[in-house]
Amino acid sequence: MARVVLTARVPGGAAGRLAAAHDLVHRDVDSPTPRAELLAAVAGADALACMLVDRVDDELLDAAGPALRVVANVAVGHDNVDVAACRARGVVVTNTPGVLTDATADLAIALTLMTTRRLGAAERRVRTGEPWGWSMTGGLGTGLRGKVFGVVGPGAIGLATARRAVALGMEVALSGRSEPDPVAVDRLGARVVGLDELFETADVVSLHCPLTPQTHHLVDAGRLASMKPSAHLVNTARGPVVDEAALVRALEAGVIAGAGLDVFEDEPRVHPGLLAREDVVLLPHVGSATVETRAAMADLAADNVLAVLAGQEPLTPVRG
Ligand code: GLV
Ligand code: GLV
Repeated sequence: MARVVLTARVPGGAAGRLAAAHDLVHRDVDSPTPRAELLAAVAGADALACMLVDRVDDELLDAAGPALRVVANVAVGHDNVDVAACRARGVVVTNTPGVLTDATADLAIALTLMTTRRLGAAERRVRTGEPWGWSMTGGLGTGLRGKVFGVVGPGAIGLATARRAVALGMEVALSGRSEPDPVAVDRLGARVVGLDELFETADVVSLHCPLTPQTHHLVDAGRLASMKPSAHLVNTARGPVVDEAALVRALEAGVIAGAGLDVFEDEPRVHPGLLAREDVVLLPHVGSATVETRAAMADLAADNVLAVLAGQEPLTPVRG
């Protein structure tokens, strides 16, 4: 029996399956593990199934020791894991691609609708008891049909979001580090453009790229200035892809029309300049937060742990 550490409560059967096969140390709590507790828990572990809020770096790998064989991140993004440090020690890293594609794409569209239709502000008005009544010109948003939906990072989630945007009558522009699947591009009737053109022409810019040193602050003051004043920014990727202070300044100056954000630079802190604004929609990193998706993510992480501990190939290794 190997020692397996699971750092948070997860829905579904994943914890039970790990416990049936191995010596499971499960912090069955619905909040991030404090760092000191995490470092103590991993000592001597053979496998770690961790959350995107758990930082896996040399310090943690030292605390774990040489038995550690696999780090299974229960997330598709893996910027919290130092993959090179893991590889240097022969530790396999896995993530959870695929199973959260639809949930995250749904949320990107939800944010698109919320920000372009100003629904956050509208909902707050009803709740606060402020007098309101139907009016012809009150609370007007902007429509999506015929507008350009710009996807930065046309991987699985970006393309799934683009499909939904097409269903809303939008035209799709794609831009990314690597060429998107030509069949998917064709089916979407999408244009593949450079990043500059995407920011200059899109009515909604939706971020789906991973957080890497190259994408850190990809959306900075210059990029925001290149967007249309009527455009909206949607971020369901990772907070640090956007320079949050620059975004606040751009919104204040009317450089862009609004933003829908599910992720922030320094979670769970949110820039106070965003909290005060009516033209932004702010969600607490819930892109993959459906019962079905979170259970599937935990299951896939468990399957990766079980495979590596059984001497088999992991199902979804991170090659980075
Ligand atoms: C969520 O943010 C994920 O990367 O899975
Ligand atoms: C990343 O930017 C990608 O090409 O998907």
